Amino acid sequence: MSETIITLERVSKVYQVGEENFTALDDVSLEVGEGAFMSFVGPSGSGKTTLLNLIGGLDRPSTGNVLFQKHNLDAMSRSQLAEYRRENIGFIFQTYNLLPVYSVYENVLFPLLLNGLKESRVKERVENMVLKVGLKEQLHKKPAQLSGGQCQRVAIARALVKDPKLILADEPTANLDSENSYQILELMRELNHEFKSAVIFSTHDEKVTRYIRREVRLEDGKISWDKRRNGTEIET
Ligand SMILES: Nc1ncnc2c1ncn2[C@@H]1O[C@H](COP(=O)(O)OP(=O)(O)O)[C@@H](O)[C@H]1O
Ligand SMILES: [Mg+2]
Repeated sequence: MSETIITLERVSKVYQVGEENFTALDDVSLEVGEGAFMSFVGPSGSGKTTLLNLIGGLDRPSTGNVLFQKHNLDAMSRSQLAEYRRENIGFIFQTYNLLPVYSVYENVLFPLLLNGLKESRVKERVENMVLKVGLKEQLHKKPAQLSGGQCQRVAIARALVKDPKLILADEPTANLDSENSYQILELMRELNHEFKSAVIFSTHDEKVTRYIRREVRLEDGKISWDKRRNGTEIET
């Protein structure tokens, strides 16, 4: 049994919209093991982004607890949460969020500089990471000179380069055609295996779920099922 990296205990998120309360997540409990490769699947509006944001410490639950290893994120101040994100989490977004004026190399270097590392000490690590995602020839190109699939590879390299415990990817393939989507998921799966960072990504695309060992389906902010590939289907 692997150690638990993320625990959600009866997590709900209620947004206030004008006079009304809207429940985006409703009493979600979940455990994620170290090195997991899993996804939140569900239609638009089912709560996937909200859930990833709570796990990533970008937002706080209305009720319930989010624990990273044994640490309750709710007990952390804003600056402690920022440190939690910087040290432990790699984020990947649907729209890549690369810095347009920087090269591929510089985009991947950036999180290491933020973590206080010197370029001279990590240059080789950054170049190797770019190599691993298959962009050797693009090392000094800018994002505008790359395809969507290549941009997402840069984002994967940038997320992994600091060797985080957890990668959170919100609809990483939503802007890609199916061929590129498969390649990106294949790459993420290979790197998950090699680096042992847990990967949680969200998708509303049923086609991509064959890459996933564990699939948690959300409907209207609730877990409707939690399925493991070579295991049993658990109705919740
Ligand atoms: N900041 C917010 N204020 C009000 N409602 C929100 C906010 N963020 C998300 N929601 C609502 O919560 C629900 C879940 O949203 P979200 O987590 O983005 O779903 P998904 O990522 O699965 O599309 C949606 O109905 C959305 O409109
Ligand atoms: Mg979303």
